[in-house]
Amino acid sequence: MFTHEDLANLQAQSLKMQHHIRRQTFSPEHEKTLRRFSSWEVSELIFRINQSTFRGRLAQDPDLPGGEVEEDGRQRWFSLTEINELRRKMKINRHSLMPKRPAGKRAIRVAISNFKGGAGKSTVALHMAHAAALDGYRVLLVDFDPQATLTHSMGLHSVSEELTVWGIIARDLVRETDRMNAAPRAAESGTALPQRRLPASIRDQGLGDLRNTDFIKTTAWPTIDIVPSCANAAFVEFASAQYRHLNPDWSFFAAVSRWLDGLQNDAYDMIIFDCPPAIGYQSMNAVFAADVLYIPSGPGYWEYDSTTSFIGQLAEALGDLAAGFDDSFPTGKMKLPKTFLELRFLMTRYEPGNDLHRAMFEAFKKVFGDRVANEPIEMTRAVEQSGRFLSSVYEIDYRSMTRETWRRARASFDRAWIEFRDTALSAWDKLEDEQ
Ligand SMILES: Nc1ncnc2c1ncn2[C@@H]1O[C@H](COP(=O)(O)OP(=O)(O)O)[C@@H](O)[C@H]1O
Ligand SMILES: [Mg+2]
Repeated sequence: MFTHEDLANLQAQSLKMQHHIRRQTFSPEHEKTLRRFSSWEVSELIFRINQSTFRGRLAQDPDLPGGEVEEDGRQRWFSLTEINELRRKMKINRHSLMPKRPAGKRAIRVAISNFKGGAGKSTVALHMAHAAALDGYRVLLVDFDPQATLTHSMGLHSVSEELTVWGIIARDLVRETDRMNAAPRAAESGTALPQRRLPASIRDQGLGDLRNTDFIKTTAWPTIDIVPSCANAAFVEFASAQYRHLNPDWSFFAAVSRWLDGLQNDAYDMIIFDCPPAIGYQSMNAVFAADVLYIPSGPGYWEYDSTTSFIGQLAEALGDLAAGFDDSFPTGKMKLPKTFLELRFLMTRYEPGNDLHRAMFEAFKKVFGDRVANEPIEMTRAVEQSGRFLSSVYEIDYRSMTRETWRRARASFDRAWIEFRDTALSAWDKLEDEQ
């Protein structure tokens, strides 16, 4: 017989193993660091220019950062900070290398969502964030999933639960309840609205006093920050149900959107949400705050089946919000009924040589038309291999695997990234200035 204590013991054993793997991987301080990128990568893969043009520029201009020369003296290796400096200082045929971004608008927000576990959500979120950062964008990741795959992949481990999406939701409850309690008396009757009380267990945590930026952590990537998650945040679903009961007028689904409205417009370019594999308070907050909905799906029939059910459930949940909450429920700058500026289905773990996968991809296109991303993400061993080192394909040093394996994987993510970026840019154009 096995009790909860046996499960806890098994988990303790497994945590030891995880710790061991991290120690081996992130030496010497057990902290994740970001590698340097070779002049081959910087020119051909990042700036997409000729390698000799790049070398010529470096030789000409002593003001440009020169990177570090490796021991055999053949390649120069640049940090991302140096790459960003090069991007600012260099022009190629009078063209800027700076990433496109509409001036004056806030960051664009993309939710990677599907209720199926293993659809590739976290892998897509991680790789799109890394590709965006290598293209010069400043990224904020929000991990809505208490399994915390994305958080762990970004190298964060000791996360306190107040500083997760749960903290943002609970702080919002406290602030919104205070705001409602302070609202003027009802005009017609002249009587005060009933004061809503929150229990000390919520009040006394001091969440109401947290600043917007307290939830944001830096990472090994100088231009990627994260709102991390942790296993303890799993109770957010139970807690949120209780919070709604405490204050039924609270627009619970707009908590994260309101928090994002409080960030500086130019603090980030792209905000990417990794969603949990279930409909609930966290995923509703994610989709409500998003401008763009990206729906990854594996290439099998059951994945198609479950993606179909996901969009049905989401339609119903968003329909319920629109029916249940009117203008008297403030939802921050995001309005009801919820509209997405762009929407894409993205096939993941796709094998181009597999007839069944190709047939499934065709079926997706037949059903969802232009809403299907043209560039699926290919199934590749490089994802597994880099994952073993708690890294993305972009982070792993290409010398640690067969160059061709790495190159193919990176090319697939690059194609998906270009499409992701163009979709984000198209949504950005449609984003109202006042939003
Ligand atoms: N393109 C890919 N090639 C190979 N393995 C992949 C690829 N995408 C995802 N995987 C693997 O599939 C599993 C599930 O992916 P994950 O991104 O964690 O899904 P989700 O976040 O939707 O649950 C992981 O083990 C991941 O390494
Ligand atoms: Mg995941």
